[in-house]
Amino acid sequence: MIQKTFKFSSFTTVQYCFDAAFNDFKKITPLKNTIIVTDENVYAFYKKKLSQWETIVLKPAGEKLKTQHIVDELIQQLVNKKADKTTCLVALGGGTVTDLVGYVASIYMRGMRVGFVPTTLLAMVDAAVGGKNGINLDGYKNSIGTTHQPNFVLYDYHFLKALPHSAWIDGFAEIIKHACIKDATMFQLLSKHTIASFQKDKKKLATLIQNNVLLKLRITQKDELEKNNRYLLNFGHTIGHAIERVHKISHGQAVAVGMAIDCQIAEKYVGFTQTEKVISLLQQYELPIELKYDKKALANNFQMDKKKIQNTIQYIFLEKIGKAYIKTIRIADLIKWL
Ligand SMILES: NC(=O)c1ccc[n+]([C@@H]2O[C@H](COP(=O)([O-])OP(=O)(O)OC[C@H]3O[C@@H](n4cnc5c(N)ncnc54)[C@H](O)[C@@H]3O)[C@@H](O)[C@H]2O)c1
Repeated sequence: MIQKTFKFSSFTTVQYCFDAAFNDFKKITPLKNTIIVTDENVYAFYKKKLSQWETIVLKPAGEKLKTQHIVDELIQQLVNKKADKTTCLVALGGGTVTDLVGYVASIYMRGMRVGFVPTTLLAMVDAAVGGKNGINLDGYKNSIGTTHQPNFVLYDYHFLKALPHSAWIDGFAEIIKHACIKDATMFQLLSKHTIASFQKDKKKLATLIQNNVLLKLRITQKDELEKNNRYLLNFGHTIGHAIERVHKISHGQAVAVGMAIDCQIAEKYVGFTQTEKVISLLQQYELPIELKYDKKALANNFQMDKKKIQNTIQYIFLEKIGKAYIKTIRIADLIKWL
């Protein structure tokens, strides 16, 4: 296990444990005062591993978990178990579980200890990093939430063994996003590989995951509360979140379509010239690049986007692969460009 600590402006220190095994877990948090929270799918796969630990299993798995109703249910279970501020709540699961548990841990008794054990590729490279958490409000993505760093994040890549292929594809959407906004070398590396080749080469996969975590940490450590450069991580997400809510497709797939559309918009209106390269990489990783979308419904969704300021929105464009920038645009223009 490789342990590294990272400091945030909120004076929190987060311990990242790479190349770890779930058994290392006991070295980080005591068996006695820890409650693991997971979803029904992950529990079905890893029931045996969890037998020693106090565990809460939530359902239904997936995006429907991120609701106020489940927050209330989890809080009630914490009350029943007499959890207090010193109890460590651990999210074991994909991004939906880390988002929900991170949020509950930040509000229960005004904040308790929390750790993440991400079990999907997407959660490993993105959702478990940077401290943003939250739930959806009437399906509007992450409208309720806080920024609250976990105390630790533990990476056991063995969890990826049981991951369905669709979830591997979703994870690569956020990896491609990172490459597009900040890392042309990672973009090149991805161009030379496929999902299957990363699945075969465990060392290469572990390095890719770790590099994505470090990339996101570099951005979020400098701008924890999203006042500036953290916005860059939203590339593809304004349209992506709208598509995810309206067309009920997975987060990764929606973000992929969002990135493809954002590149086309940037090509037409702000002089970006590498749309073909981005689209071809998305396709190489089996991601969708288009969808017959409901323009009016997407337009309505922009009104609930957290990057909206009155009638404008903070939008992310690529200047070139590996370099992105933030531009304030009018929502009316964005709707016109769709
Ligand atoms: N907080 C952030 O910074 C941030 C960043 C990116 C995405 N997100 C959020 O993450 C969520 C998407 O996360 P996700 O793609 O991990 O989805 P998810 O949590 O729904 O997991 C996908 C599916 O895989 C199952 N699963 C999880 N781990 C498994 C394993 N090891 N083996 C077999 N099945 C497993 C889950 O039960 C679920 O059915 C979205 O809600 C998105 O908004 C948050």
